[in-house]
Amino acid sequence: MCGIVGYVGKKNAVPLLIAGLKRLEYRGYDSAGIAVVVENKISVRKTVGRLTNLEARLAQQPLAGSVAVGHTRWATHGEPSEINAHPHCDCAGRIAVVHNGIIENYHELRAALEAKGHKFLSQTDTEVIPHLIEAALRDGAKNLPDAIRAALNQARGAYALGIVSADAPDTLFAVRQGSPLIIGIGEDGDRFIASDVPAVLNRVREAIYLDDGILAELRDGSVRLTNLAGAEVPAKVQPVTLSAEAADQAGFETYMLKEIHEQPRVLRRLLEVNPLFGGGANFGLKSDYFRKLQRVMIIGCGTAYHAGMYGRLLLEQFTGLAVETDLASEFRYRDPHIDPGTLIIPVSQSGETADTLASIRLAKSWGCKVLAICNVPGSSLTRESDAVLFTEAGPEIGVASTKAYTAQQMAFALLAIWIGSARGMIDATACRSLLADLAGVPDAIHYLLDRKDSIRAIAQKHHEGPSALYLGRKFNYPTALEGALKNKEISYQHAEGYAAGEMKHGPIALINEYLPVVCICTKTSDEVYEKMISNMREVEARRGRIIALATDGDSQIARFAHDIIYVPYVRDEFSPIVNVVALQLFAYYAAQARGTDIDKPRNLAKSVTVE
Ligand code: G6P
Repeated sequence: MCGIVGYVGKKNAVPLLIAGLKRLEYRGYDSAGIAVVVENKISVRKTVGRLTNLEARLAQQPLAGSVAVGHTRWATHGEPSEINAHPHCDCAGRIAVVHNGIIENYHELRAALEAKGHKFLSQTDTEVIPHLIEAALRDGAKNLPDAIRAALNQARGAYALGIVSADAPDTLFAVRQGSPLIIGIGEDGDRFIASDVPAVLNRVREAIYLDDGILAELRDGSVRLTNLAGAEVPAKVQPVTLSAEAADQAGFETYMLKEIHEQPRVLRRLLEVNPLFGGGANFGLKSDYFRKLQRVMIIGCGTAYHAGMYGRLLLEQFTGLAVETDLASEFRYRDPHIDPGTLIIPVSQSGETADTLASIRLAKSWGCKVLAICNVPGSSLTRESDAVLFTEAGPEIGVASTKAYTAQQMAFALLAIWIGSARGMIDATACRSLLADLAGVPDAIHYLLDRKDSIRAIAQKHHEGPSALYLGRKFNYPTALEGALKNKEISYQHAEGYAAGEMKHGPIALINEYLPVVCICTKTSDEVYEKMISNMREVEARRGRIIALATDGDSQIARFAHDIIYVPYVRDEFSPIVNVVALQLFAYYAAQARGTDIDKPRNLAKSVTVE
C-alpha cells in the first residue's frame, strides 16, 4: 500500500521523484524517503509524516543525481518513524531498497542474517532485502542482478521492489511478485518505475506492466528484463492512454470533490464504451457461456463489496441466476463448495487488493471462470481474469471511493441486463426500456450535484454527534452500508449501516433525540417504500433525528423527517446509483465541518495490497 517511484536518465531525479510521490501519497503517507546515487555513493533522506516534511528536509540538505528511488509509506511492520521509513540499506550503505508489500519470512531471514553479523536498524520486514543482496555478493554472486535473484529466491511474500546500488551507479533495478509495479518510458531516455501509473502520467506515454518474477534493469534509454533464472525475456511496451489531467485536481478543493463531480461524465462514457451493448471492445466470455450458467459468486472488499451486494440484487432480478456475495477476506478462508460451473465476479477499483486476488486464484484452481469488474487496465486482477468489464472511471485519487463505486454499480446494471437478455429472461422491448432508464442516471446525478449547497447545510447541522445510523432496504440496503462507510472513512464519525428491517433487532436501542438516522426512502413501486415509512415512524416515535432521502415531489416524508435530501426520480433498480451520490456529498460536508483531511483520511490506504 506504499508508493514507489524511481528514475534513471539524464535529469536530476530528485524533483521528478518528489512530483511522482506527491501523486502517490494516497497509497500511504506516514513517512517518506529517497535514495540517490551520488558520486558512486548512496545518499538517503527520510522523514516522518507527509511528503512536505521530506521536501523541507531536502531544502535544508539538497541532493542531486540521475539514478534514484523514492517511497511513501503506509506502515505494516514497525511504527511510522524515520528509522522505519524507506529506503533501507545494507551494512555498507551501498544498496538501497524501497518496498511495497510484505516479506512474510522476514523473521527467520533476519535471524539468519544477524547470525552472520549483519546489523539491522529498523523494525521493518523490508530491511532484510538489502542485507540478503549484500550477503549474496559476499557469498560470491558474480554481479548485482545475480545477487538480487539470490535474495528473491529466499524471500517469501508479496512485494514490489525498487533497488539502487553504488556498485551499479547507472542502473535502477525493479522486480515484483504480487504487488503492482510498472515501468514508464519517457522522452530523452527517461526511464521510471512506479507502483501506479498516475505517479508518472505527465512524464510517460508508454509503459511496461511488469510480470511477477521478472527483474528489470533500467538505464538511460534502455530496459532489460530477465527472469529469475537469468534468461532474457522480451518487453511488451504498451501505450498509456490516461491523460495527465485525469489525475489532477482540476480546481476542486479536494480530489474527492472533483471525483464526485466527475460521475455524470464517467457514467455516460461507460454507457458509450462498454463492450456488452455495441461498444465493440473485446469481452472474453461468449453469451453461450451465460445461457448455460447456473451460479454466480461476487467477491470484493470495502466499497467494491457494497457494489457487489447491489450487483447481486440486479443479477437476481434480471437473470434468474443464483447469486451470492462475500467479502474476499472471508471467502478465501471458508469452505464455500464452489463447483467449476460457478462464475466468479471479483469487483475492485485497483485490481490489486490482496484478498480479492487471493480469492480469484483459489477459484481458478477449482476450475471456475473469472469475470472481473475493474478500473485499472494492466492491473493484476485484469491480467488474471478470463474476461474484464472495465469501469472506465479514470484514476481515482481520493482514498474514499466515489466515482469508481457508481461506475461499478453501472457496470453491474449493464451486465445484469445483458446476461438477462442472453438467457431470455428479458425480451428486446424490456431491454430497450431498461437501457433507456439507465441512460437517464447520469443526468439525474447531474441535477443532484446542483443541489449540493442544500446537502451541505443539512450535513452541517448533524455532523457533531458521536454516531449516526443509516437505514435502507432491498436495492438501497447496500446504499445504507456505503453511505455509512463514506461517513466513517472521511469524517471519523462512527456510522452504522443497517437493513431497515433489522432495526428492531438491535439498533433501535440507540435511538434518542441526538442520534441522526439517515433513512433512504426514495419512491419505489413496490412494498419497500411503505416498509421504510413504517421504519421512519418507529424512529420518529423514539424522537430520533431523521434525515430522509426522498424523491422529488414526495410530500409525505416532510411530516416526520427533520431534514430531507431530495433526489431526482429514477426507476427502483437504478435508484442506488443516484442515492449514493447524495450520501457521498453528505459525508463530504460532514467531514469538511469536522475539519478532517478528506483526501487522505488517517490510517487508510487507497489500495490494500497486503492482507
Ligand atoms: C481500500 C480502499 C477502499 C476500497 C477497498 C477495496 O479499503 O480505501 O476505497 O473500496 O480498499 O479496494 P479495491 O481497489 O479492490 O476496490
